Amino acid sequence: MHFEVSARQSGIASAPLSPQVSCTGERLLSVTGLEAAYGDRRVLKGLDFSLHAGEMVAIIGRSGAGKSTLLHVMNGSVPASGGEIRYHAEGGGERDILGANARQWRDWRSECGMIFQDFCLVPRLDVMTNVLLGRLHHTSSLKSFFKIFSTSDRARAVALLEWLGMLPKALQRAENLSGGQMQRVAICRALMQQPRLLLADEPVASLDPRNTQRIMEALRQISHEGIGVMVNLHSIELVKQYCTRAIGLSQGEILFDGKPDHIDEPLLQQLYGDERDGDDRDTLH
Ligand SMILES: Nc1ncnc2c1ncn2[C@@H]1O[C@H](COP(=O)(O)OP(=O)(O)OP(=O)(O)O)[C@@H](O)[C@H]1O
Ligand SMILES: [Mg+2]
Repeated sequence: MHFEVSARQSGIASAPLSPQVSCTGERLLSVTGLEAAYGDRRVLKGLDFSLHAGEMVAIIGRSGAGKSTLLHVMNGSVPASGGEIRYHAEGGGERDILGANARQWRDWRSECGMIFQDFCLVPRLDVMTNVLLGRLHHTSSLKSFFKIFSTSDRARAVALLEWLGMLPKALQRAENLSGGQMQRVAICRALMQQPRLLLADEPVASLDPRNTQRIMEALRQISHEGIGVMVNLHSIELVKQYCTRAIGLSQGEILFDGKPDHIDEPLLQQLYGDERDGDDRDTLH
């Protein structure tokens, strides 16, 4: 069965995902010479790329290419060892987030939502509270400690859950959900902070085909709202079906940055090499 979200179903008409962002395709990030290393091992070797509002950019490449490291460097959970990530703030300001202090990193994380393959929900809390926790960056620590959220935050959480068909589960503990349901809640939580960009590290890796399609449709709709989406994917078929652009990483370097339609056999061979021989081959097409 295909998943289709109409404006009415999504609740977007009444609760825009990101009211501050217009779909103008403005530049959000300019990344230059980005480097990262674990100890002596260089994992990102001077990456240059930009990200614009409304794009849905796939990061592709074989296991160990540096895809997750890239997203983690972008959200500050892994330190960069060189280069710049310039963020083009609304209203024209520009700053290098790699030079940010602790408070600026907190601000940055409220602009930059992230969802993970393993969802990272709080298992014993109910779905609604997990979603509301996405507002932590905007809520005083005392209020967040007592889980006191504003009426408008609650209304937004309800609209997001309704959009992804999760409202009936709002009071259920997160630990009792299926994988596809957990990922939908994780998306709602990331959108609670009204980010300008969303990073997703293999968000469909553990999901069945129907849930995969649901999550990919949701990410696409989020990008249509004007949010810049970057998503690590292993399926080239999904990249071609859903993404507006692909960045191919190989051993920490960019081999390709362009339209998914331009991904051809020689490039796949360069990106995946021997990984495509044998069992992995099916997952790449
Ligand atoms: N915490 C860490 N400490 C040391 N090395 C790490 C760490 N995390 C990743 N690496 C190494 O860095 C390289 C890039 O890893 P990364 O997880 O970014 O790859 P990936 O492209 O996301 O791979 P996959 O498709 O398997 O998720 C790999 O060689 C990996 O072993
Ligand atoms: Mg990874």
